[in-house]
Amino acid sequence: MKVQYFKDYGSMSAKAAEIVAGEIKAKENMVLGLPTGSTPLGMYSKLIEMNKAGKVDFSKITTFNLDEYYPIKRDNSQSYYKFMHDNFFDSININQKSINIPNGEAPDANAECMEYEKKIEKAGGIDLMVIGLGPNGHIGFNEPDSFLLPNTHVTGLTEATKEANKRFFASINDVPSKALTMGMGSILKAKKILLIISGESKREAVKQLLKGEITTKLPVSFVHLHRDAAVLCDIEV
Ligand code: F6R
Repeated sequence: MKVQYFKDYGSMSAKAAEIVAGEIKAKENMVLGLPTGSTPLGMYSKLIEMNKAGKVDFSKITTFNLDEYYPIKRDNSQSYYKFMHDNFFDSININQKSINIPNGEAPDANAECMEYEKKIEKAGGIDLMVIGLGPNGHIGFNEPDSFLLPNTHVTGLTEATKEANKRFFASINDVPSKALTMGMGSILKAKKILLIISGESKREAVKQLLKGEITTKLPVSFVHLHRDAAVLCDIEV
């Protein structure tokens, strides 16, 4: 795991965008895994700029988002579906049919998760998986626990994650109690991982991560097991 520190959020986001664009240049029909949240917003803006300037072409890539609240309507202002379209997909030249996001409207959540995992396999697996980090060490909605799950699954949100995400909702009671998320295996099977970390609230989780111990109490620590994982961080720990 290679960790690179950046003096600010802007330079970290520019580097993340450069890495994503580099992977697409190397393989125009690559499969890209993507997160939502505040951290990737700068990277998405940069990639949009690069796309408009003709420096990166998204027309042949396929994307898989990490997660989605459940249940949630696509047009809910807080759905990850809407987030991704508003902040990225609607502003780039991606083929809308190549976008995959777990369906928060699916009548059968477990069936949706199994289907999602199959779709990733059918696409040939993920070439580059971009992930963010929760203050409690979660990745996707794989929350600290006594065990973690390998495949895409339905999960309950911890109080800590509800607390961290309530800023986007009218109140904590409006944060959905469940989510559909790629599992640890879905993430770790990606050929490359790019972990982007921003903000003071992540300091403790980064400190724990850098100890090098692997524990289900800190899901991100499993990234240590990956052969090709890069970490970009805008806080020096
Ligand atoms: C989002 C996701 C989450 C976030 C994490 C950090 O799709 O899977 O694990 O990456 O909660 O969120 P921000 O970037 O808002 O601090």
